[in-house]
Parts: sequence; C-alpha cells; structure tokens
Amino acid sequence: MMSQKLQDAMNEQMKNEFFSAYLYQAMAGYFESEDLPGLANWMRIQALEEMTHGEKFFNFLCETGARTNLLPIDGPKNDYKSPLDVFEYSLEHEKFVTASIGKLMSIAKEEGDHASEIFLQWFVTEQVEEEASFGLILKKLERIGNDGNGLLRLDEELAARAFTPPTAAE
Ligand code: FEO
Repeated sequence: MMSQKLQDAMNEQMKNEFFSAYLYQAMAGYFESEDLPGLANWMRIQALEEMTHGEKFFNFLCETGARTNLLPIDGPKNDYKSPLDVFEYSLEHEKFVTASIGKLMSIAKEEGDHASEIFLQWFVTEQVEEEASFGLILKKLERIGNDGNGLLRLDEELAARAFTPPTAAE
C-alpha cells in the first residue's frame, strides 16, 4: 500500500496535470482572440493531452488502492502580451512540472515503491519530450520576431497537430 506521503504527492501531481490542461486551454483562448487558429489548435491538443496525464494519476491511485483526492485548481493566466510570451510562460510551467515529477520519483525511490517508480518513469520520459516541443516552438518564435509572415507560416504548421488518444499500454 502506498504511503500517505506518496499518496499526497501523487494527488498533488494529479492536480498539476489537470491545472496544466486548464492553463493550456486558457492559452488556446488567447490565440483564438488573436486570430491564430493554428497556435490555438496546438494548445487545445496540449490541453487534451494534459487531461490524459491527470487521468493516468487518477487510474494509478485507484488501481493501487490509494485514495484519490481532487484538490482545488487555481485560475490560470488568461492574458498574454504575445505568442512569445505564451511560450516563455508555458516552458517555465513545464519545467515546474518536470521538477515536481522529479520530487515524486525521489519519494517513490526513498520508500522503495517500485510500482510507483515504474509508473513515474513514463512521466520522466514524457517531460523530456514536452520541454523539447515547447522549447522548439519558443525558438521559432524568437527567430520570427516581428515577421508577420513567419508567424502565419508557424500558425499553419501548428494547425496540423492532432490528438491521439493514449493506448492501453501508454
Ligand atoms: Fe503533463 Fe505537460 O505536463
């Protein structure tokens, strides 16, 4: 049975994942208001992915006989100065999530909870990918600067992102 300390930390991380969905949906709303449907699409998909991350924690808590505890979620930031501002903010948020997963992994290791370690390994790998994808778009936006055509090309590129529901094995 998972320790209370680990259960609390898992529930906190479940909240962080659902908060991430809320934050990215808010960012999608900002992009919609700026007539950037491709960037909005990319953030909507990201919000859906974060919901699946929260769901993974929910399922793992249930499967291991731990108690789910859905915590209050803060309001996300809705207003941004520019697309660059959005991606600077979101990359910082992903770094916070990575650090939070790292702390969770440390607790699981300290407690010798191997099932939790294996479960969390997926998130360790996922965070590497997430920081890379947010970071790549941030770099592109830095290069684009005030080039309106460049921004439109990026918007078209990001319109192609589609949501793939996770399989049972993921
Ligand atoms: Fe699920 Fe982007 O952290």
